[in-house]
Amino acid sequence: MKTTIFSQISIDGKLTMGAGNSSKELFSLFSSEDMEFIHLFRGNVQGIMVGKNTILTDNPFLTNRYEENKNPIRIIPTTTLDIPLDSNVLSDEGRTIIVTTEKGRDEYKIKQIRERGKECLICGEDKVDFVELERQLEDNFGITSLMVEGGGFLNWHIFDQDIVDEIILMQLPIIIGGSTNITLVDGDGYQQLCFAKKFKVVEIQPKDNYTLMRYKKVI
Ligand SMILES: NC(=O)c1ccc[n+]([C@@H]2O[C@H](COP(=O)([O-])OP(=O)(O)OC[C@H]3O[C@@H](n4cnc5c(N)ncnc54)[C@H](OP(=O)(O)O)[C@@H]3O)[C@@H](O)[C@H]2O)c1
Repeated sequence: MKTTIFSQISIDGKLTMGAGNSSKELFSLFSSEDMEFIHLFRGNVQGIMVGKNTILTDNPFLTNRYEENKNPIRIIPTTTLDIPLDSNVLSDEGRTIIVTTEKGRDEYKIKQIRERGKECLICGEDKVDFVELERQLEDNFGITSLMVEGGGFLNWHIFDQDIVDEIILMQLPIIIGGSTNITLVDGDGYQQLCFAKKFKVVEIQPKDNYTLMRYKKVI
């Protein structure tokens, strides 16, 4: 499985205009060509993942609006299964897999999700085990490429479990600030450099509205 973190960030690494806010406001700074780049990338992967909070704040469709019938399967990890049943990923026609844990298993909520024609997997005890999840996604759904669009809490778990092969950042030339704001990677963090996850720069390209930055995992 090839896993790519794909994010729109500010110079100071923030993902939104403040915790609890939708990141959609940032998207007004991109041109239609920039938006097309994001959507076409979605068309080239088989799975797309965001954390449950992103569903609550942004209510995204996570589809490719520039090419017909080239939408990745949406994958949403959650321990609480508290995803509104009228959210776009549960109420449109597209495929969605909600992933929870043994601890979060709630047969009533799982039934409600399945009644909407969406899938629900249990993977891990307390937190979703992404290594095992990727194995299941490959074996049972044929997904060999996964794009992770955040937010910061999900990204932490994805990096911490060492499954990121590539990072693509569209860095807007703005500073947002705020010590409680969501950043590219939140969670516990590492206090020792030897634990930091290491990547090499493979591309830096100034664009009209942002800087495109690509990194690959150091093997
Ligand atoms: N600029 C961008 O590119 C971009 C992209 C995406 C999101 N965002 C922004 O990011 C913000 C949300 O970020 P966030 O850090 O608060 O939340 P998040 O990462 O979107 O979602 C966190 C939630 O996802 C679930 N989750 C994550 N990892 C899990 C694991 N290993 N096992 C089980 N469940 C897991 C948990 O749900 P439960 O609580 O149910 O356990 C957790 O509380 C929003 O403001 C959104 O607009 C920005």
